[in-house]
Amino acid sequence: MISIADPELGEREKERVAEVIDSGHLTDGPEVRAFEEAFAEFCGASHGVATTNGTTALHTALEALGIGPGERVVTTPFSFVASANAVRFAGAEPVFADIDPDTYNLDPEAVESVVAERDIDAILAVHLFGLPADIERLREIADAHDLRLIEDAAQAHGAAVNGERVGTFGDAACFSFYPTKNLTTGEGGMVLTDDEDVAARAARFINHGRPAARFDDDSGGSYDHATLGHNFRMSSVLAAIGRVQLDHRLQESNEQRRANAARLTDGLADVEGIETPIEPAGRRHVYHQYTIRTDDRDALRTHLDDEGVGTGIYYPTPIHEQPAYDGVTCDVPATERAAEEVLSLPVHPNVSAADTETIMTAVRRFETGGPQS
Ligand SMILES: Cc1ncc(COP(=O)(O)O)c(C=O)c1O
Repeated sequence: MISIADPELGEREKERVAEVIDSGHLTDGPEVRAFEEAFAEFCGASHGVATTNGTTALHTALEALGIGPGERVVTTPFSFVASANAVRFAGAEPVFADIDPDTYNLDPEAVESVVAERDIDAILAVHLFGLPADIERLREIADAHDLRLIEDAAQAHGAAVNGERVGTFGDAACFSFYPTKNLTTGEGGMVLTDDEDVAARAARFINHGRPAARFDDDSGGSYDHATLGHNFRMSSVLAAIGRVQLDHRLQESNEQRRANAARLTDGLADVEGIETPIEPAGRRHVYHQYTIRTDDRDALRTHLDDEGVGTGIYYPTPIHEQPAYDGVTCDVPATERAAEEVLSLPVHPNVSAADTETIMTAVRRFETGGPQS
């Protein structure tokens, strides 16, 4: 079976983890600082605050930006549920705008309509599947209406717009380092921002409200709690994995994902009834997922499974249709159609050229009526 995900971890990660274990310094510390600095620098941001996962990174960013009760955040209903959940964890209300059916990302026009109709305080844009959202346009909308802009870049490490990496367009940006992601630490996340005050508030929020020495000369003692906070701190063991992944894997594996995607797009171009993903001019897609769409999705999925090709559906149920969002109404036809039609094919760095041939042949057999033809 060609799997839909295959996290890459090896000797280098094992060695670095062993070093951290030998050091006896397992929780927050210099290893985490070094990972924060390196990842922020890679993305072009001034500050990084590492967290336990992408969900807590989002929650932390929203809190650090002062988004809370009584406020509304416009976001996409076509994402992993954590994007909207974080808004609710912060005490604010997610308001859903529809996606652009060609990119699966927030449609700026839909965002503008929502901003015109409702009292909105912030925009939370997701760079879904590794393709940057139309973040320059969303930044313009945010600036025109005095809204804060948050990037959910959980799936887009190294993706870029006109040469600038995602993670630098919003007032804050959030990443996940879950095992299927382009860079993994097992579990983990990070908030990036250029605003030192936002970074300082984020660092406090993830550490029981304690002022962080790196942002605050007068950080006080270990049991001074300036604000309410959580324990969302990243462990040094995970930061060590992240540093290795950043230094030795991310860029190469993004190139491999792009090469696999190019092969698939080329080979599937003339298959009827299937739309392959696009990469709009100026945007660098890092193919966290390679997502096609077809109106016969479920049958194609069963067929590919029979042919040894693993697939994934991201996401079969839009967020507003989840039971946890009972009572939420919105007009998002492009999202609802996408949820019925999308199918992700294996694109990760361990997919070989031969594997892409197998995948394309299997898709073609479906088009022509099965393996016998
Ligand atoms: C778009 C998006 N946002 C947020 C998250 C949450 O990240 P985590 O699973 O690390 O909490 C994910 C992860 O699956 C995601 O894909």
